[in-house]
Amino acid sequence: MPRRILVTAALPYANGHIHIGHLVEYIQTDIWVRFQKLRGHDCRYFCADDTHGTAIMIRARAEGRSEEAVIADMQAAHERDFADFQIEFDNYGSTHSAENRALCGEIWDKIRAAGLVKEANVEQLFDPEAGTFLADRFVRGTCPKCGATDQPGDNCSSCGHHYSPVDLVDPVSKLSGATPVVKSSLHLFIELEQLHGFLAEWTQSGEHLQPEIANYLQGHFLGDPLRDWDISRPAPYFGFEIPDSPGNYWYVWFDAPIGYMASTRQWCDRTGANFDDWWKSDDCEIHHFIGKDITYFHTLFWPGMLKTAGYSLPTKVHIHGFLTVDGEKMSKSKGTFVAARTYLNRLDPSYLRYFYAAKLSSRVDDLDLSLKEFEAKVNTDLVGKVVNLASRSAKFVEKTGLSAKYPDDGGLFAHAAAQGAEIAAAYEACDYSRAMRLIMALADRANPFVEENKPWELRKDADQTQRLQDVCTIALNLFRQLAIYLAPVLPKLAAQTGELLHDEITSWDQAAAPLVGTPVAKFKHMLKRIEEKDLYAMIDDSKEDAAAATPAPASEAPASGAMDVTITDAYADGGEPLAEEPLAEECTIDDFVKVDLRVARVVEASEVPEANKLLRLRLSLGGGVYRQVFAGIKKFYKPEDLVGRLVVCVANLKPRQMKFGLSEGMVVAAGGKDAAYLLTPDEGAKPGDRLH
Ligand code: 2FM
Ligand code: ZN
Repeated sequence: MPRRILVTAALPYANGHIHIGHLVEYIQTDIWVRFQKLRGHDCRYFCADDTHGTAIMIRARAEGRSEEAVIADMQAAHERDFADFQIEFDNYGSTHSAENRALCGEIWDKIRAAGLVKEANVEQLFDPEAGTFLADRFVRGTCPKCGATDQPGDNCSSCGHHYSPVDLVDPVSKLSGATPVVKSSLHLFIELEQLHGFLAEWTQSGEHLQPEIANYLQGHFLGDPLRDWDISRPAPYFGFEIPDSPGNYWYVWFDAPIGYMASTRQWCDRTGANFDDWWKSDDCEIHHFIGKDITYFHTLFWPGMLKTAGYSLPTKVHIHGFLTVDGEKMSKSKGTFVAARTYLNRLDPSYLRYFYAAKLSSRVDDLDLSLKEFEAKVNTDLVGKVVNLASRSAKFVEKTGLSAKYPDDGGLFAHAAAQGAEIAAAYEACDYSRAMRLIMALADRANPFVEENKPWELRKDADQTQRLQDVCTIALNLFRQLAIYLAPVLPKLAAQTGELLHDEITSWDQAAAPLVGTPVAKFKHMLKRIEEKDLYAMIDDSKEDAAAATPAPASEAPASGAMDVTITDAYADGGEPLAEEPLAEECTIDDFVKVDLRVARVVEASEVPEANKLLRLRLSLGGGVYRQVFAGIKKFYKPEDLVGRLVVCVANLKPRQMKFGLSEGMVVAAGGKDAAYLLTPDEGAKPGDRLH
């Protein structure tokens, strides 16, 4: 039965270009959508540019253009970048559209009617020269607590104190350099607490969110009353004016997710589809793919808005981690902050699509792009194992085509066909790294067949003509199976394969039956190896991009006004932990290295019945070295969830005899008495690895 599936990726801001960090999400989502389409489902991928907010307004002013002109140019650039990375949307819209304005109005009316909106005056800093209220990041000043100068508007980088910008001493506007004044204005709030019961149930049902996200929401937000959400901004603001509150505008995060619906609406109007079949039907699944930084908006506000307005709730919010390059945050000065276009100028998009697929799992973990690994993986897997199958066999059957009957291949094709279900399950679960491993394992079985049968030798022997055709028929069919399984990741390779064998790849099921008797086109080169020089040229180009970028007034500020809220509200990185537990006394590196922190695997875990808080863990440090530790995490973790996972252990702590047994170390966790979060290293770390 074909499923109806609506899929979205987060709407990129219109004040910056797409970079390789963004692409983790758009590629991940594109793969999922292509997979569903290949399986025959009615799956649609909607996205749009996220255009509103202070940042665009400031940029437009700085550039002396209208906001509309700024967002139109950026949208065209985004669409070009996406298309060149083979990211294919069914509709790409804009939040600054008539469709979005109408939907915002309709949803707003329902939220008002449900009695969720309240009004209150808010004191904010106002820049009298720029004529605008200032978001936290647009202000600097002296910390009211410790007196450190030149501190940001929300918390002090010196003492960690969290404050409101109006409390800053000697504040200065980053927009104009003027001294801001405190000004009061009316704001509209949504009382999210009224939806607490519903949100607790929806987030904790185990159906819609990854378990670590559900735990995060429970631990950070749902344990307390939910804060009112400040949903309006006074003029001047680039956005939609609230019809029943003249002079006030919907805050960008109100209209941004509604942009998912507006993009759908445009597609419905263009194709004749019925909007309610997609947003108001139990028969339609809704899947959002987002980064972990915008969890709060998509798992609390957005379901709250949908529920109140009578629309379908998300079936699943798929949340991914951030990209690091060579183990570090992307850096402009190191050239690892690579714009999509800078990448495309040097490298084939298929490389990045494959590499991300090979690294992505269904967890929220960050993903590392190690340049060496990138080069090695693409060259070994795609060129060495996959494309090589075709390049070593296709040219020998250009004249004859494939054999009329599929020859005996010792069960290779049947085995790969039988693996299809497991590969599909891995794609469905967004566990692409597993799907790639399964596919490469098939390639590892296919290649020895070619090596042992040596078509390049057979062609020299006139008596082996039939054998040559049979060997190449097998090799090309095994290659084609791989191309079908890889089609969601490598659509271009799938298209090339279709042309080579005169049989377009349109369905997953094509991998179940071999192709026989068809002509074989002249072999055209499919994918070249990554050259190290191109990779490093791209890094050099990125350094140049960074050097050439003259900071406009707005780019001194945060990436955008909305981003302020992402950082401060979404993760409440407000400095409360520091306030509760101030930083310890300074120590030297020598002090630090005395503590031997090691990666360890939990091999056994059980409750200590006579202790309220303790779990007994047996940790492997590798090489047959084990430690027994007692961890005060009984309230937060189930023993069975811990077995197998990697943790960080203090491995040289003096053993201590406790009444339950000998304690031979400690596991490291964040949090206080009401929460504990075990630390897990990124993928690749092994038991015994030391933390430096
Ligand atoms: O974080 C961001 O980049 C936002 N522009 C994402 C918006 S997603 C959705 F809600 F529109
Ligand atoms: Zn301070």
